[in-house]
Amino acid sequence: MKVSEAISGRQSIRAFDGERPVARETILEILSTAGRAPSGSNIQPWHVYVVSGEIKEQITRVCSERYLSGDEGDAEYHYYPRVWREPYIGRRRQTGFGLYGLLGIEKKDTAAVQAYRVRNYQFFDAPVGLFFTIDRDMELGSWLDYGMFLQSVMLSLRELGLESCAQQAFCPYHDDIMPLLGAPEDQMMVCGMSLGYPQRDALINSYRTQRLEARDFTRFVDD
Ligand SMILES: Cc1cc2nc3c(=O)[nH]c(=O)nc-3n(C[C@H](O)[C@H](O)[C@H](O)COP(=O)(O)O)c2cc1C
Repeated sequence: MKVSEAISGRQSIRAFDGERPVARETILEILSTAGRAPSGSNIQPWHVYVVSGEIKEQITRVCSERYLSGDEGDAEYHYYPRVWREPYIGRRRQTGFGLYGLLGIEKKDTAAVQAYRVRNYQFFDAPVGLFFTIDRDMELGSWLDYGMFLQSVMLSLRELGLESCAQQAFCPYHDDIMPLLGAPEDQMMVCGMSLGYPQRDALINSYRTQRLEARDFTRFVDD
């Protein structure tokens, strides 16, 4: 697979083949490739927790229950701007409405919205969940490094026919998840990720998000 194909063909997958497991060696192979991601001074600030089976089910249970009871949890970092503004709010809406539109979910249909959201906590039926953590005393630069590592994970796995969906949705429930992972208190959750073989014919997986043209976010200053 060409690098450009790996990047352009990647999309968030939200329906996995739950019957097809992913071998431990395969996961280690992916993480080993992704671990070649660059980081300032090569400090490699990532920790990965891999869940399947009973622990994964426990995470599904606790997050679904909390979400459905109206407990929004409390993520340890702000992923999004505190005050939404254009152009970001518009892009966010376009992505959300596009996906809901495809699935025929109306925003005011609370039950349908909740059912969709709970799929996050079911890891979209993926056989494997990954949780990424970082030591609390790391600075912004390490979060930059982390993004490169995450994208490297999401690209490396594609070469093996696997797909993924990065998930911030788990972060609000870190206080229940981190102890289940056995993660020490000096680490914080960066995000979760579902990993598995995709259900190729699932409607939700046919959704393709848009992107800006490069010329719209690029300026050749010497022109
Ligand atoms: C760090 C991160 C967290 C994300 N969290 C979620 C999530 O919790 N649930 C979800 O369905 N998608 C999540 N996404 C997927 C984004 O919505 C998706 O990447 C974006 O809409 C672009 O679509 P694409 O990945 O299909 O290209 C996340 C993506 C990233 C990079």
